[in-house]
Amino acid sequence: MTDRRPRSFFVETWGCQMNELDSQRLAGKLMEQGLLPTRESSEADLILLNSCSVREKAEQKVYSRLGMYRQFKQKRPEVLIGLCGCVAQEAGERALKRVPDLDFVLGPARVGEILDVVADCLAGKRVVATGFPEERDHDFDSISRDGTYKGMVTIVEGCNKNCTFCIVPLTRGPERSRRMDRILAEVEHLIDYGFREIELLGQTVNHWREPGTGDRGPDFADLLERVAGVPGVERLRFVTSYPRDFTPRMVEQFAGHPNISPYLHLPVQSGSNSVLQRMGRGYTIESYYALVASLREARPEISLSTDLIVGFPGETDDEFERTLDMVIELEFGSLFAFKYSPRPGTAAPRLGNAVDMAVADQRLQRIFAAQEPIQRRLNQQLVGSRIEVLVTGWGKRPGTQSGRTSCHRVVHFPLDGHEAAKSGDLIEVHIEKALAHSLLGRRTDRPDRPDRSRDSDQANHPRQASPGLSVVA
Ligand code: SAH
Ligand code: F3S
Repeated sequence: MTDRRPRSFFVETWGCQMNELDSQRLAGKLMEQGLLPTRESSEADLILLNSCSVREKAEQKVYSRLGMYRQFKQKRPEVLIGLCGCVAQEAGERALKRVPDLDFVLGPARVGEILDVVADCLAGKRVVATGFPEERDHDFDSISRDGTYKGMVTIVEGCNKNCTFCIVPLTRGPERSRRMDRILAEVEHLIDYGFREIELLGQTVNHWREPGTGDRGPDFADLLERVAGVPGVERLRFVTSYPRDFTPRMVEQFAGHPNISPYLHLPVQSGSNSVLQRMGRGYTIESYYALVASLREARPEISLSTDLIVGFPGETDDEFERTLDMVIELEFGSLFAFKYSPRPGTAAPRLGNAVDMAVADQRLQRIFAAQEPIQRRLNQQLVGSRIEVLVTGWGKRPGTQSGRTSCHRVVHFPLDGHEAAKSGDLIEVHIEKALAHSLLGRRTDRPDRPDRSRDSDQANHPRQASPGLSVVA
């Protein structure tokens, strides 16, 4: 009998940052066991598809992708294929029935069990590992950090909000906060490792509470204070904040800690109170405006981004116009707008009054058309300034590199005779041109002068990107 044990793996990731981190956790566990990542899915003995089910389109793509992976298996029958992520949790057994060559289905809360599941498959089983067992914090050990510029740290898993459109509480389960001491230890570890930017993750990240302390224990404002105080944390970000849970003490953290990035993703979903109510969001548009005003007062340079849904059941022209007015008034630095997509198990499809697809399409286009000049103008204001940029890697064009400002704007700059900066370096760029979605500029340091960022400890700290991870997002 041949040894079917996989020697190599490939993880493909769709969706949000939580999936991105879950893929790093999967890769970490597999590498600990001696499996090596491959650059191409076709070369791997074990292929994992870490899926997203937030909108129907993303889910359909997952199944066509699995179809492609099946072809590899027809050539090399020893290949193992696993469906992970939110589609896995939602479909469970059904996915095994639908895709004959699928070996296993692994839900987001079962990531830590990947090695056991692979072992069961090798013993001839097809495995469904879904549901929400008691969280074991050591499941956050052995993470294969992909890229070298942002260290992601999960602080809250799952979500209890049950917004009527959203499948996430069903796929990621009830909300669970991680302990502060574990979070701080992970942050310190990442800083020792050489990361300069820390990104705290949770579906409702600002609803974090020290577990077991009820309403009286440390909350997210306390946690922010502690993480911002860890020596070496140069940039601190967190996603995703839930507007209703954003307290004045959290706003104060922006004023008190310059290393908390002046950037906040604050999904609003709609500018109409009646739609917000049907979505079950639990806040009014007036309270959202008040929150935005207080954030801008605390940190005038703050850049806000948001998520919007158009074509929510029953959305009238008037309700939509309120969303459009809000987009124009609040001037978001960036915006993610989606057409409503009915999801199984959620409450919104039962509201009836579905909005015509063509109308929803038109509304989406009107949002983008309103946002584009705003972003262009906001970016234009930065032309001529010198900005600190955290290098994220190579640019799309040959001979260019890219990075992010502390407000999370994308900056592209040519090598211009410099040795390439490493992902994670902080450099200064003179901004010369603004586009709607990015800034173009040049490094301010001369190529013939030593670059300070290269002399730092971090430059002597080799870090490995993981070729086995591909993020589609
Ligand atoms: N708190 C989460 C939200 C996850 S869903 C976070 O980390 O971002 C991300 C965004 O997808 C939501 O803010 C919402 O704007 C959009 N979305 C969620 N469900 C949707 C649906 N059924 N149809 C269209 N867009 C949806
Ligand atoms: Fe989804 Fe609402 Fe939670 S958008 S992730 S149910 S906060």
